[in-house]
Amino acid sequence: MQPTTFILFGGTGDLTKRKLLPAFATLLREEKLARRSLLIGIGRRPLTHESYRDSLFEGLSEDDQKTLQHLSILYFQDDVSQSTGLNNLPQFLQAQEQAASNRIYYLATSYTLFPQIVQALHRTHLDKHTDRWTRLVFEKPFGHDLASSNALDNAIHAVFPEEHIFRIDHYLAKETVQNLQVVKFTNPVIDNLLHRALVSHITLTVDESLGVGNRLGYYAEAGVLKDMIQNHLLQMTALLLMEQPKTLTNGALHTAKVEVLTHLQIAPAEQHLLGQYQSYKEECVQANVLYTETATFAKIALTCDLPRWKNVPILLRTGKKLPKKYGQLIVHFKPLSASPYPEQRLAENQLIIDVYPEQDIRLRLNTRKPWTNMLAPINLLFSPKAHFGPNTSDEYATLLGDVLRGEKMLFTRSDEVQAAWKIVEQIEALKSKIPFVIYEDETDPEKNSSRTTGHRFA
Ligand code: BG6
Repeated sequence: MQPTTFILFGGTGDLTKRKLLPAFATLLREEKLARRSLLIGIGRRPLTHESYRDSLFEGLSEDDQKTLQHLSILYFQDDVSQSTGLNNLPQFLQAQEQAASNRIYYLATSYTLFPQIVQALHRTHLDKHTDRWTRLVFEKPFGHDLASSNALDNAIHAVFPEEHIFRIDHYLAKETVQNLQVVKFTNPVIDNLLHRALVSHITLTVDESLGVGNRLGYYAEAGVLKDMIQNHLLQMTALLLMEQPKTLTNGALHTAKVEVLTHLQIAPAEQHLLGQYQSYKEECVQANVLYTETATFAKIALTCDLPRWKNVPILLRTGKKLPKKYGQLIVHFKPLSASPYPEQRLAENQLIIDVYPEQDIRLRLNTRKPWTNMLAPINLLFSPKAHFGPNTSDEYATLLGDVLRGEKMLFTRSDEVQAAWKIVEQIEALKSKIPFVIYEDETDPEKNSSRTTGHRFA
């Protein structure tokens, strides 16, 4: 296995410690990352290699700390916003890399710095590597609207070709999200159920119980529409609705997702709901962050005008400080036009796909309650935990493992991102007409409709 050098811009940030280091430890244990690999954190603060390593190891499990001894973790102080930014990095890399290494540039900084970073990589000839490959990885937000996202893409594409770019949406690495396409495309019985002839509507929920936390500055601009709908929820919608591509190679999956995203239609304003949890304002005041009417909750109603889905309502719901954290996708099927048991209540048939905390798939049916003449709803259940044991997959280890393999299926392509921005921009254009509620912390804004303030976004 060839060694790899990870160059982490924003290497002193939270993401490195919380997500990336445990993922590196997993990859080392699974022998997917060569032991002679290097991890170089880049930041503005003056730190020594030792103090950097110590700060990263704080709070890591002993097991991970031990495994990570196989990786050289170094610190490189630099300020990419300066015209001389990265000038000394080539020599540093040359001195540290013991063999020809692949290179991954991981941009864990604000997207506003991405153009400067890629330009500096280009200026210092670090964008190309004659002996080995070079890849660029970054996370959302990819800009703050369509125009800024396109500008960002142009700046990055001026240096790196699309095949070297890996845009992370960590929901795509969640177990059930990966399972969606398998269950749909390998079981004609399921694929045939997913059709407007049988489906009455679809609900996709990603509720969170925590608030915005220490990301108030970022969130004030992003809000729930840009933080969750633009990426995670629209990606899952695309995966659920897409037609089977002829092949899963050469980007055909991305093309199939774009087909869905470009055919989504936004419902009229009164069918959506936006809200903000009550203590958000106080959090902003306490943290000295300018308070805005940012939505922390959204219910968005869509349809998809592809032939299979025409007129089927699709409801996306997500928010913070809600009663509990769970993610679930439910396909609701149409009822019988006439029941042979008119005196008894029939349950709605549903295909339920749990994203979090379980990763189960259930089919809700009516059956006979044994030894009675009553009907009862039951679930045909596939529980991966019961069947295969507890889920040990780690989303970031999956994603970084795929970057190492050059496998792009779990990453978003630029046209998917663009299509998703167009949808968010259409919702934003309706904002002034969308009902808005201030909901009490840990309550459900939809059940709280009496609190609709009639307040309108500016
Ligand atoms: C991130 C959002 O992308 O996803 C956060 O920026 C959100 O606001 C998080 O809390 C949710 O991810 P998960 O995996 O915990 O459901």
